[in-house]
Amino acid sequence: MKDWMRIAGITSSEITDEQTFRRRRALIQAATAAGMTGFIGTDAMAKEIGPISKWADSATEKQTTEEIATTYNNFYELGTDKGDPVKNADKLITDPWSVVVDGECDAPGTFTLEDILKPHAIEERVYRLRCVEAWSMVIPWNGFALADLLKRFKPNSNAKYVSFETLNDPDLPGMKSRVLDWPYREGLRIDEAMHPLSFMAIGMYGKEIPGQNGAPMRLVVPWKYGYKSIKSIVRISFTEKQPQTSWNMSAPHEYGFYSNVNPEVSHPRWSQAKERRLAGETSGLSALFTKKIDSQFMNGYGEEVAELYADMDLKKFF
Ligand code: MTE
Repeated sequence: MKDWMRIAGITSSEITDEQTFRRRRALIQAATAAGMTGFIGTDAMAKEIGPISKWADSATEKQTTEEIATTYNNFYELGTDKGDPVKNADKLITDPWSVVVDGECDAPGTFTLEDILKPHAIEERVYRLRCVEAWSMVIPWNGFALADLLKRFKPNSNAKYVSFETLNDPDLPGMKSRVLDWPYREGLRIDEAMHPLSFMAIGMYGKEIPGQNGAPMRLVVPWKYGYKSIKSIVRISFTEKQPQTSWNMSAPHEYGFYSNVNPEVSHPRWSQAKERRLAGETSGLSALFTKKIDSQFMNGYGEEVAELYADMDLKKFF
């Protein structure tokens, strides 16, 4: 690694990611030029969704291009390199899809994706997405408030938390690596889940959400690190006790249950004070040289969510 890369804060794993990303980008460009749109599989075939109403409080910063948001991904079930999820997205079978809802609620059941989606009007919300690896994007998601979905299952008074699980298919190419204890699990306190900012995304950029981004439905919790936004959900459970969550199980001193974006609480290996914004035209190599910007407390959503943590020491409950 060259000294100027170290000075710029670029790690060797980012260089590998970048090489994979550039190869993938070159392949897409070549395939598109040759008219081989089938080559890009789900990307090219993504169905438009609508009608979509626009949420009034969307982030107004420059949006990340669809190309970057759908080719630079973290989805370990599909592989650990940033370019793996898009390459392996066709291995994720999303039709048919069902979701089990259980635990502390009066209307549990097994629901088809159609059952889940039917009553919900679709909204576009542009949110900042901040990964604990200190990069960020600005993405227009399509979906509905998580609270509107959860209320349908009538959580009872014992429901203090809600947990989520991703499809546990041992044939998915990333799941042999045992980097995490599968299935991928995440959880929120019930008041966090019911907060109006918590969102269930079924699309992005006006199209059905592609496999690499968590088809057919994934969580988006914009004030928390990206790993809380669990993809490809097959189970929702209401619980009395705080549920186990994947990254916390793998390294509890590195990843807390709350995982609220907080520039003052550094991860042991990454300062969280700044982030590299992947937006606009910053694709390819230039993405690595995007100027770092200051990270914001709660990813800029502090005013909306501060009341949830009023009496808590956020350094202890990180
Ligand atoms: N969900 C599952 N099931 N598996 C994963 O590996 N990665 C998380 C989160 N959700 C992950 C997941 C991480 S670390 C991030 S930063 C976001 O997804 C990335 O979402 P994106 O690829 O749509 O940008």
